[in-house]
Amino acid sequence: MQGRTVDTIEGLREDPLCERISTALVNAGALQCGYCTPGIVSSLTAALRHNPAADVAELEQALHGNLCRCTGYNGLRQAIAELAT
Ligand code: FES
Repeated sequence: MQGRTVDTIEGLREDPLCERISTALVNAGALQCGYCTPGIVSSLTAALRHNPAADVAELEQALHGNLCRCTGYNGLRQAIAELAT
């Protein structure tokens, strides 16, 4: 971890990219209880920082391992479509 940083969801609060992702999730109705939200937002933020031109497949890949018990993933797919280039 030497020379590396760790961004928490609290640390991303002021990040414009995080705001864009959060807005896409809200607009798509991809949030309910919020338990999964920090992991989803963090994963999408990292993916879009790494590749701002990420496509749908890349963003879906970035969410592998993130489980959401509430939304059934349709909202997440809509948000990803809005975020992808
Ligand atoms: S919104 Fe409840 S687990 Fe994802």
